[in-house]
Amino acid sequence: MTHPPVCNYEGSDYQTSFWDKGGREYEDRTEAIAIKRLLPPGGRLLLELGAGAGRNTSRYLGFDRIVLLDYSRTQLEQAQARLGTSDKYIYVAADAYRLPFVDGVFDAATMIRVLHHMADAPRALAQVKNALASGGTFILEFANKQNLKAIFRYLLGRQKWNPFTREPVEFVKLNFDFHPKAVREWLEGLGFTVERTLTLSHFRVGLLKRLLPTGMLVFFDALLQWTGAWWQLTPSVFVKAVLENQAGGSPKRVPSVRELFKCPDCGNSPLKDESAYLECPGCKKRWGMKDGIYDFREPL
Ligand SMILES: C[S@@+](CC[C@H](N)C(=O)[O-])C[C@H]1O[C@@H](n2cnc3c(N)ncnc32)[C@H](O)[C@@H]1O
Repeated sequence: MTHPPVCNYEGSDYQTSFWDKGGREYEDRTEAIAIKRLLPPGGRLLLELGAGAGRNTSRYLGFDRIVLLDYSRTQLEQAQARLGTSDKYIYVAADAYRLPFVDGVFDAATMIRVLHHMADAPRALAQVKNALASGGTFILEFANKQNLKAIFRYLLGRQKWNPFTREPVEFVKLNFDFHPKAVREWLEGLGFTVERTLTLSHFRVGLLKRLLPTGMLVFFDALLQWTGAWWQLTPSVFVKAVLENQAGGSPKRVPSVRELFKCPDCGNSPLKDESAYLECPGCKKRWGMKDGIYDFREPL
């Protein structure tokens, strides 16, 4: 596959329709708990991949600077409206398969509800590995094909695909579920150590969510999250993976914008900052910067 297709959220009202008005307070609160359990409380620079409208960004405030990356510019505009334009946030429109960052520059990265749009997940994960410094932490959420509902449906003959096999399943165009063992193998193959696995959304059932108080569901989900160390049968799984034994250590200070970016096409750096665009010293491509959003999807 030369250029994997992108699930484009341009113009989508995902944040409003799925989260704000979609009855997903339970899922949102359990994710907040998982992030707190897995992510170091602070650090210099964190990369949020597929940040969308910045729903999770306020959960990373212990980091000095946060790079919000998304393919969709309109999602980043929503994030900007929510979070503002301070130096704390760098907004980047780019493709997760073609990251515009100097190797080893981040000391943490998160990718939540994004891998399920990746037709070539190992390729996207390899990009994250390159962007992280040695010892860097990666918090990854993925949609689990081996979930209880899928298992029952398969055993009852109501679903063709096998939830126990390692290959991803594309249940809707550009929406994939993954087997936990496959994700672990990909991460380990890249040099990550999976330090912790949490299972989430044990009670993602419409009837339960309607009948029982959200606080109660969140409380019991938070307890059950730890069982992810032994088995993973929920629709959503979080892992904490740490990048070991790479050359170089974590950067000593927060890099400037000049030190952060490379050309996503030819890999050259540093890019020349011309304020309205960044110019590559190698291939001379110009990457736009407009209204506080760097754009590395297509050159100017
Ligand atoms: C389901 S949303 C999740 C947003 C956010 N992480 C959250 O949990 O609220 C998926 C996001 O991934 C982004 N995305 C999908 N494919 C991408 C790619 N190849 N590169 C960068 N972003 C991508 C979409 O634009 C979208 O904003």
